[in-house]
Amino acid sequence: MCFSQVVMSLFLVVLLGGTLTRVGCFSFNYTVFNNEHYSQLKMSNSYIVLGAIQVTPDVSNKASIAKNSGRAFYLKPFRLWSKSKGLTANFSTTFVLNITPKTSPGGEGLSFILAADATLPLNSDGQWLGIVNASTNGSSQAKVVAVEFDTKKSYQEDLDDNHVGLDVNSIYSKTQVSLTNLGINLSSSSNITATVKYDGKNMTLYVASMEVISWPLNLSDYLPEEVYVGFSASTGDDTELNCIISWEFNGSDIDDGDDDLELLWLWITVSAAVLVLSGIVFYLYWQRKQALYAEDPYPGLEDQIKGSSMAPRKFLLKELRKATGNFNPKNKLGEGGFGTVYKGLLANKEVAVKQVSKNSSQGKQEFIAEVTTIGSLHHKNLVRLIGWCYERRELLLVYEFMPNSSLDKFIFGDEKLGMEEPTLTWEKRHIIIHGVAEALDYLHNGCEKTVLHRDIKASNIMLDSEFNARLGDFGLARTIQQKGKTHHSTIEIAGTPGYMAPETFLISRATVETDVYSFGVLVQEVLCGRKPGNQIELTDYNNSIVYWLWELHSKGRILDAVDSRLNKEFDEEEMSCMLVLALACCHPNPHKRPSMKTVLQVLTGEVPPPLVPTERPAFVWPAMPPSFKEDSGISFSKSQLSPFTELSGR
Ligand SMILES: *[C@@H]1O[C@H](CO)[C@@H](O)[C@H](O)[C@H]1NC(C)=O
Ligand SMILES: *[C@@H]1O[C@H](CO)[C@@H](O)[C@H](O)[C@H]1NC(C)=O
Ligand SMILES: *[C@@H]1O[C@H](CO)[C@@H](O)[C@H](O)[C@H]1NC(C)=O
Ligand SMILES: *[C@@H]1O[C@H](CO)[C@@H](O)[C@H](O)[C@H]1NC(C)=O
Ligand SMILES: *[C@@H]1O[C@H](CO)[C@@H](O)[C@H](O)[C@H]1NC(C)=O
Ligand SMILES: *[C@@H]1O[C@H](CO)[C@@H](O)[C@H](O)[C@H]1NC(C)=O
Ligand SMILES: *[C@@H]1O[C@H](CO)[C@@H](O)[C@H](O)[C@H]1NC(C)=O
Ligand SMILES: *[C@@H]1O[C@H](CO)[C@@H](O)[C@H](O)[C@H]1NC(C)=O
Ligand SMILES: *[C@@H]1O[C@H](CO)[C@@H](O)[C@H](O)[C@H]1NC(C)=O
Repeated sequence: MCFSQVVMSLFLVVLLGGTLTRVGCFSFNYTVFNNEHYSQLKMSNSYIVLGAIQVTPDVSNKASIAKNSGRAFYLKPFRLWSKSKGLTANFSTTFVLNITPKTSPGGEGLSFILAADATLPLNSDGQWLGIVNASTNGSSQAKVVAVEFDTKKSYQEDLDDNHVGLDVNSIYSKTQVSLTNLGINLSSSSNITATVKYDGKNMTLYVASMEVISWPLNLSDYLPEEVYVGFSASTGDDTELNCIISWEFNGSDIDDGDDDLELLWLWITVSAAVLVLSGIVFYLYWQRKQALYAEDPYPGLEDQIKGSSMAPRKFLLKELRKATGNFNPKNKLGEGGFGTVYKGLLANKEVAVKQVSKNSSQGKQEFIAEVTTIGSLHHKNLVRLIGWCYERRELLLVYEFMPNSSLDKFIFGDEKLGMEEPTLTWEKRHIIIHGVAEALDYLHNGCEKTVLHRDIKASNIMLDSEFNARLGDFGLARTIQQKGKTHHSTIEIAGTPGYMAPETFLISRATVETDVYSFGVLVQEVLCGRKPGNQIELTDYNNSIVYWLWELHSKGRILDAVDSRLNKEFDEEEMSCMLVLALACCHPNPHKRPSMKTVLQVLTGEVPPPLVPTERPAFVWPAMPPSFKEDSGISFSKSQLSPFTELSGR
C-alpha cells in the first residue's frame, strides 16, 4: 500500500467518524407502518397490524384484549436538553390516531409519551394508560410526560370520556380539555390528526388543526437529557383498538447526537489516526534507514573522518541546505563532473559549498583524503576547508568563499560571460605566482607529510578579495571523468591536459616533479596570457605552450612571449628570469626540474634561475623522477584522482 493510499483511507475514516457524529436534525416520517419498521421501533405489547401500530395488541377477536397495556417508541432516543451546553431542544410531531371501541363504551385511552425508560411498567393497564402504575404514579422517579387521549372517565378528576390532558409523572392531568365541544369524538373510529409542539418553554397540542392545549412546561425539570418518544395505551374491562396510522417527528438536534458517543468517536478516530500515522512515519523512517544502511555507498566513512584529529567541523545537511537556500540554482558558483559548487551563508559568513556529485570519481577515499588532509592544512595561499557533511548519501565540502573567483577568468577572460576581466598588472601577476609557489612549497615541504596537489592550473587558483592566490580545487574534477571504466587512459589519470608532465603518460603517477611541471605551465600561462595548449597525448607535446616558449627561448626572443595586454609595463630582467624559471620547471627530464624551494628562492632573487638549454632537450624515457624512485614501495597510488595526494613519509 503506498503512502497516498494510506493517507486517503485515513482521511476517509476521519470523514466517516465525522458524519457518524453529525446527525443534523432528529426527524423521521412514517406515512404507513409495515413489518420492516419493527427494527426501527421499540415495542412492548404492541404490533404492526394493517399498516398501523396497534398499541395494545390486536388479537382480531380471537382473544380478549381486556386489561392490556402497551408501548411503542422510536428506537433511538431523542436528546431533549443538554446540561453541559445549556441547550434545550424543541420538536414538533404529528400523528394520526384511530381509536375503535371494542366494547360499548370502549376504554381506556391512548397517549403520546416522552419517557426516560422505554419499558412498559407492570400493571399499567386500565386507568394508567401504560404511562405509570400505582407505585410510580405521582413519583418524580417515573420520569414520564404524556399527552393523553382519554376515552374513559376513570376518576373524579377526569372531565369526561372524550378529553385530552397533559400528564407529568402521573396519570393526573395538569390540564385537560374536553373534545366534545370541538366536535371531535375520539371513540368514533375516525382518523384524528394531532400535533404536539414543544418549543423549550411551552407544550402545545393541536387536534384536527385546532389548538387545544398550550401549557408552560420545562421538560428539563422532569425528564433526563435523553428520552424515548412514542405512544402508550391501555384497555381495562372495556376495550378498544388504539392505533397510530402515521407519525412524523421533527426535532432539533442540539448537540450532534450523544456527547459521550461523540467524544468516544472523536477519541477513537483521533487516536487511530495518530497511531496509523505514527506507524507510517516510523515505517518510512525505518525503511529509509534500512535503505541508507543497505545502500550506504561509503560505509564507515564517518568513523574514518572522525578518527582523524585533523578533521574540520562536521555540518548537518540541514545547516548547509539552509545556507545555500536549499541548493538554489541561483547560488551556483560552478559546476562540473565533480558536482556543483554553491555560494552559501553560514553564520553571516560567505562560504562555498561543494556538493560532490554521486557520479563523481571523488568517492569515499578521495572525500576522506580531502577532509582529513586538507582540513589540517593552514596556509595563507590555500583555500581553507571549513567543514564537511555526509548525510543521506550526500558528500559535501564547505570552503571559504573567494570573491574574485578563479585566475583563469582573468588571464583568458570569461568565455561564458563573453567579456574580458580587467587585465592583471605585472605586479599582481608576480604576487599571484609567488603565492602559488609558496602554497606548493608548503604542500611539498612545509607540512608534516608531503601533499601533492596533482591538478595545478589556472582554474584551480582562486583569488581572494585582494587578488592573493589561493590554491584550491574547485575546478579540479572538471576534466576528470568517471574512474574505473577508463582507468588505464592517461587522460583520466593525469589531471588536466596541457599541464601534465610528459612522464605522467608513462608512469601514471603523480609526483612532486609533476606538480612542479604543472606549476611551470601555469607561470607561462600567467605571463603569456595564453592557454596551455591541448596536449592530450605524448605525441601532441609539440602543440603545447612549453614547446612554443622554448622555441622563442632558443631564438633568444623569449620576451616576445609576454602577454601583449601588459603593454610592456614590466621589469624585463625579472620577466625573462621568471620565464626561464618556468621553462626549467617544464624540463622534460624530471630530474632536472627545480624543487619548489628553489623556485621560491629564484622568485625572491636569492639565487639566479637554473640554466635552461637553448635547445629543448628531447624527452628520454624511461625517465623515472627522483622522488618516484625514493618513494617506490610506499603507498601513494591509492587515490590517483585526488587533488591532494598524501605521501606517507618521505
Ligand atoms: C412526511 O411525509 C408526507 C408524505 O410524504 C409529507 O406530506 C410530509 O410533509 C412529511 N413530513 C415531514 C415532517 O417530512
Ligand atoms: C426550534 O427552534 C428553532 C429556533 O429556536 C426554530 O428555528 C425551529 O423552527 C424550531 N423547530 C421546531 C421543530 O420547533
Ligand atoms: C410499577 O412498575 C415498576 C416498573 O415496571 C415495577 O417495578 C413495579 O413493581 C410496578 N408497580 C406495581 C404496583 O406493579
Ligand atoms: C396519582 O398521583 C397524583 C399526584 O401526582 C394524585 O393526585 C392522584 O390521585 C394519583 N392517582 C391515583 C389513581 O392514585
Ligand atoms: C362517539 O362515537 C361513538 C361511536 O360512534 C358513540 O358511541 C359515542 O356516543 C360518541 N360520543 C360522543 C360524545 O359523541
Ligand atoms: C384512516 O387512514 C387509513 C390510512 O390512511 C385509511 O386506510 C382509512 O380508510 C382511514 N379511515 C377513515 C375512517 O378515514
Ligand atoms: C407559553 O405559554 C404561555 C401560557 O399559555 C403563554 O403566555 C406564552 O406566550 C407562551 N409562550 C410561547 C413562546 O408560546
Ligand atoms: C428548564 O430547566 C432547566 C434545568 O432544570 C434549566 O436549565 C433551564 O433554564 C430551564 N428552561 C427554562 C426556559 O426555564
Ligand atoms: C424540521 O425542522 C427544521 C426547522 O427546525 C426544518 O428546517 C426542517 O425542514 C424540518 N424537517 C422536516 C423533515 O420537517
